[in-house]
Order: sequence, then C-alpha cells, then structure tokens
Amino acid sequence: MPRPMLSGLTVTRRTVLASLAALPLIIAAGCNNGGAGSAAGASDVKIGFIVKSATEPWFQSEWQFADEAAKKYGFTLVKLPATDADQLMSALDNLAAQGAQGVIVCAPDTKLGPSIVAKCEEKNLKLMSVDDRLVDAGGKPLDKVPHLGISASEIGKSVGEAIAAEIKTRGWNAAETGAAVLTVDEIETCRLRTDGAAGALEASGFNKANIYRTPWKAPNDINTAVDAANIVLTQHPNIKHWVAFSSNDDGVLGFVRASEQRNIAAKDVIGIGINGTSGKDDLKKATLTGFHASILLSPKTHGFGTAEAMYKWIKEGTAPTAETYTKGTLIDRKNFVEALKAEGMTP
Ligand code: GLA
Repeated sequence: MPRPMLSGLTVTRRTVLASLAALPLIIAAGCNNGGAGSAAGASDVKIGFIVKSATEPWFQSEWQFADEAAKKYGFTLVKLPATDADQLMSALDNLAAQGAQGVIVCAPDTKLGPSIVAKCEEKNLKLMSVDDRLVDAGGKPLDKVPHLGISASEIGKSVGEAIAAEIKTRGWNAAETGAAVLTVDEIETCRLRTDGAAGALEASGFNKANIYRTPWKAPNDINTAVDAANIVLTQHPNIKHWVAFSSNDDGVLGFVRASEQRNIAAKDVIGIGINGTSGKDDLKKATLTGFHASILLSPKTHGFGTAEAMYKWIKEGTAPTAETYTKGTLIDRKNFVEALKAEGMTP
C-alpha cells in the first residue's frame, strides 16, 4: 500500500493516525460547539432515523434522544417518518442522495427487511433496526442487521403479573372478570408482549375462557384501538370487571376510551400498557381512569443509544452489538414522576 503523503513528506501510517487522533483536541479547543463528546470531522457524519409513526409519543421520544446524541457528537441527524413501503424506500434514497452513511430503522412492515437490506447495500448505508426486528419473507429475523429492542416476553410477563396482583387487591370475582387483549401478532415483539402477559395471567389462575383476543389492525392509532376494543365489549356484555393489555400504551388507551364511552366505571377497569410515553398522560389526570399502570421503557437507550452506536460504527468502524434487549419499570400514579425523571423524560 502506498504511504500517505503529508506536506510533501513521506510519513508512516502510525504518524498519520497519531495526527488524526490529535485532531479532536485541536478542533474542540478552537470551537466549543458540542460539549465534551465533540469529535473532529463529526460534522461530515450524517445519520438517518426512520420511524413507522411520527405521531406516536414513543417515537417522538426516541427522536428527541437521538437528537441529543447528534448534539453530543456533532453529527447530523435526519429524522424521517415512513408509514408504508414506498415512503420507506424513498426515505432511504433521500438519505443516500444527501450523503448519509448510516440509518436506524423501525419499519412500518418488518417483512420489508430484505428490500431494506438490499437498498442499504446498494447505497452504501450502514443499517441498524430499532424496536421492530426486520424479518425475511418467511418471518425469520435478519440476524446480520444489528438490532436493539425490548425484552418483549419478560416485559409482557410483568404486565400479566401486575394485572393479576391488582385483581387480587380489588377482590374481583373470576367469573365476572374478562381480559381484553388487543393484539398485533404480525410483529414479533408485539406478539411476544401480549403472549407473555396472557401466559402470566393464566398462570395466576385467571379463567382462560375469559381472555378475549382482538386484532388491532392499524396499530399506530388509538382510534383503531377503540374500534378493536368495542368489538370485545359488544360481544361480552355480561362481564362486570375488565382487564386490558396490548403491545403498547396506545392499545390499552383505546380500550380505556371505549370503556369510558360505555360508562364502565374506572374502578372496574385495570389497563396496563407498555412504553409509558402516552400512558403517563392518563396517570397525570386528576380523575382516575381505567389506565392503571404501564411498563416504562427507555426511549433514551433506544434513541440515544442506537444513534451513538451508529455514529461509532461510521466514525470508528466499531460494529454495534448484534442484539440488545432492554428492560422496563412498572409505573403507576405513585411513582411515575420519579421514574420518568430518572429516564431523562419530562413527566
Ligand atoms: C414497537 C411499538 C412501540 C414501542 C416499541 C418499543 O415498535 O409499536 O409503541 O413499544 O415497539 O420497542
């Protein structure tokens, strides 16, 4: 390999690396633009962050924390929503045209995995998935794409256990208690959550025949969750007490809003969500609602963490961890303020 030349002198590779290593210090000393983590030349790094819904608070929080990583390291973050395959593919083209070197994706359809991988290879974009793991046409996870998601079964299990504990506290009669489960079975992380919760509920002795599943067809919208909930509520008029769980807060909020429209009292509903990002608004309300609790996830790890890992991959060549699964914390009216603050979020 020819030796690189600097100022007309032949220098060793080690000298060049040593000079490059000194650059961040020189530049950071000259411009105080990005805090302690600023790196020289970071401004030529551009990273895309594509999410399946720009309106869901979870993704807004993820973006907010990814922005913090961009600020810390001084790279450019391009946030793009993609609600369908066409938008996703044009977002990738758009990023490549802008000179981005990497992209983090939560796809609107995980089966787009092979097309996303092919496009990123063609355009020389490094690819990571967040939240929803990309799969092939047969549903098999694309394990070559680094992924960060939640420990879905475990978190689902804690939802089921918390519901079982609250049923006990309220002293409900099993025969009159039903469970509404708003499912999104086409996405693995969502299916594992509701299966985990249903399994824990059954293990607590909950009557299996009273667990009613209903598919939530457009799962980035509370209104469609209200529709799914109404199907279950209409079919089971004899149920007096309801528990509700889903893949996230919004599914449970759909059930809670539907129960309110039918004048079912909040004390007769135990809804436990996942995310914390939309559920916290019900926990804040002066009047009790059926939204009893949520599992607060870490949008900081999902947003800042993935953006940071992508930056280091581009800048330092260090590939991200192949698979990372995050945990959650049960929040309710008593502890949500403290727990959200601990996650760097505004309660
Ligand atoms: C899925 C859900 C989101 C959120 C993330 C967390 O994408 O749709 O609401 O729960 O998982 O990873």
